[in-house]
Amino acid sequence: MESGFSGRVVNVDKLTYAGNPENLSDIAKWFPGRYVFVKADIGDRDTMARIFSDYDIDTVCHFAAESHVDRSIVGPDAFIQTNIVGTFNLLELARDNEDRLELFHHISTDEVFGSLGQDGFFTEETPYKPNSPYSASKAASDHLVRAYHKTYGLPITVSNCSNNYGPFQFPEKLLPLVILNALEGKPLPVYGDGKHVRDWLYVEDHCRAIWAIMKHGTRGETYNVGGNTEMENIAMVEMICDILDSLQGLKDGRPRRDLITFVKDRPGHDRRYAIDCTKLKQALGWTPHESLESGIVKTIQWYLDNQEWVTRVRSGEYKAWMAEHYG
Ligand code: DAU
Repeated sequence: MESGFSGRVVNVDKLTYAGNPENLSDIAKWFPGRYVFVKADIGDRDTMARIFSDYDIDTVCHFAAESHVDRSIVGPDAFIQTNIVGTFNLLELARDNEDRLELFHHISTDEVFGSLGQDGFFTEETPYKPNSPYSASKAASDHLVRAYHKTYGLPITVSNCSNNYGPFQFPEKLLPLVILNALEGKPLPVYGDGKHVRDWLYVEDHCRAIWAIMKHGTRGETYNVGGNTEMENIAMVEMICDILDSLQGLKDGRPRRDLITFVKDRPGHDRRYAIDCTKLKQALGWTPHESLESGIVKTIQWYLDNQEWVTRVRSGEYKAWMAEHYG
């Protein structure tokens, strides 16, 4: 990926259940001799303070978060700790290092806005109305970031994105879960009536948006990032089934749509998300490169080509590999 960036990248990750340094091996290649990986928890302020000073951090790009809504429903603690307390720690450290701090960019979600009805889009002016412990924790962190700009003049930008998909995604999210289950002939769980709508954003389009905001975004502003690809979950699952049938042939003589299984709905399940990213397009000239169809085909092909990664990620083997390599 083109970046034009000549500095050093220090990647801090706690490597929880979904963290995987293997996913980041390309970064080391893009920044030869300029890439450092540090296993650390943003909730640990002392360790993070050492990282800020050891590496003279001048720019923070804050992706670190517990991100899965279902997990936040059964166990919200980690979400409060990492998403709120962790963000607070980073903001305090950014303030401690304000003399050299150029930017604190916070990556957030459209879920902070709650649920849309049949019409309309989330804009940067939509009031916050989070419905899950996850989205409430992200809303709290967004507010802290904004407050640190208003109160302390910290140079910040915030981006609120729609549903990401693409290579390397941990198979708890809808798309990789469905792709892998469909390959194996397992049930494809669709929550409720399947008519919930999501706006799908290819991961590399999201990364290009973040980079554009970091380079050219106005300090103190937020930007919405979406793929402009609204789709009902059931239509998405059917699309994946049909693409897999055409790439791989039927599964045991049957179309993969037969595997679709409607299951109990997620509590507080937001009905519809759709992003208006006019601001990002007009102010920074960003536009998604990937169409939904091309992005989904690429993603499916990636999972087909990376079965070893899949096996490792889904087995205890992955945890053992992590322990061996990263302690
Ligand atoms: O909108 C951005 C958000 O997208 C991010 O902030 C979150 O971190 C990310 O997890 C994602 O949230 P969702 O809850 O929308 O993603 P998920 O993949 O869990 O679910 C997508 C939709 O599919 C949602 O309407 C719930 C539904 N679903 C999900 C799973 C895992 C199913 O019907 N069956 C499933 O098994």
